[in-house]
Amino acid sequence: MTSASDALGGVFPLTSDLRVSRVGFGAMQLAGPGVFGPPADREQAVRVLRRAVELGIDHIDTSDFYGPWVVNELIAEALRPYGEGLVLATKIGAYRDHEGAWLPLNHPDALRAQVHDNLRRLHLEALDLVYLRHTVDRGIPLADQLGALTELREQGLVRAIGLSNVSVEQYAEARQHAEIAAVQNLYNVVNRTSADLLARTAADGVAFVPFFPLGSGFADSRARQDEVLRGVAERHGATPAQVSLAWLLRRSDNVLLIPGTSSVAHLEENTAAGSIGLSEADLSALDALVADGETLEEAH
Ligand SMILES: NC(=O)c1ccc[n+]([C@@H]2O[C@H](COP(=O)([O-])OP(=O)(O)OC[C@H]3O[C@@H](n4cnc5c(N)ncnc54)[C@H](OP(=O)(O)O)[C@@H]3O)[C@@H](O)[C@H]2O)c1
Repeated sequence: MTSASDALGGVFPLTSDLRVSRVGFGAMQLAGPGVFGPPADREQAVRVLRRAVELGIDHIDTSDFYGPWVVNELIAEALRPYGEGLVLATKIGAYRDHEGAWLPLNHPDALRAQVHDNLRRLHLEALDLVYLRHTVDRGIPLADQLGALTELREQGLVRAIGLSNVSVEQYAEARQHAEIAAVQNLYNVVNRTSADLLARTAADGVAFVPFFPLGSGFADSRARQDEVLRGVAERHGATPAQVSLAWLLRRSDNVLLIPGTSSVAHLEENTAAGSIGLSEADLSALDALVADGETLEEAH
């Protein structure tokens, strides 16, 4: 018999006491257009979140950046009281201005404030996993930023620390200052620019959580990507989106999926990707689309 966690790709240990199914949900698409403001259909956004939990999803990726604040408020409204074992992962290190731009905010005091803001909006006493988003350094040493997060962890306000938008070098440096449970970078079937980081985290037993797993960025390369994905999808009676997620699950055992959607139908479709068994021939065809370190645009 297939268990719920098998259908969701099996279970991965983020830390010794924090385990998640490999197919999760990314909540960013629940905000308004451009990840700014409220959703067009609030009831549907609430339905998506509740359906995710019904499907057995126990890992939801969010942030106060989304809306801003809108998505965290939706999660609290839809899912409280939170079920046991539900892991809510959030991100800090940035803010949105009044036009929705994403700007860095990495001073240790600002990071502490962002942890407290996320705790308040999600109505939690501790955050399971907090990613430090490290797009722009602005002269603030990584050691100081991680020092603030480690302090919060020692105070019991943060259970695990992650990194987002980092290079292999920044990841290696970060591991000298803090225990890193997960890394979140852009990676999908047509964008392998973070292949080096995926390999490195796999070797370290650290979770790799690709953002844009369905390639919100697929648009530029749709024709070629669709040709290969469609061929594999047809053989499995699946959709190209499901195949691209199934490929990620097979790419490395430390990959955790957080596909984003604002629709219950897409959520159900994406969640079912954990049950698709790709053959070696399927994997070879998909692997060959793009070389490690490249994007499909660069390859063709
Ligand atoms: N760390 C970072 O800097 C960072 C950056 C970006 C995102 N993230 C995280 O990564 C998560 C995933 O990223 P994402 O949502 O932007 O991109 P994604 O998962 O690659 O793709 C989402 C897009 O694909 C569509 N979609 C979803 N399922 C589909 C399906 N089965 N068939 C066809 N279209 C489908 C969605 O539209 P519909 O709503 O119509 O389904 C949406 O436009 C986010 O939720 C967020 O938590 C992190």
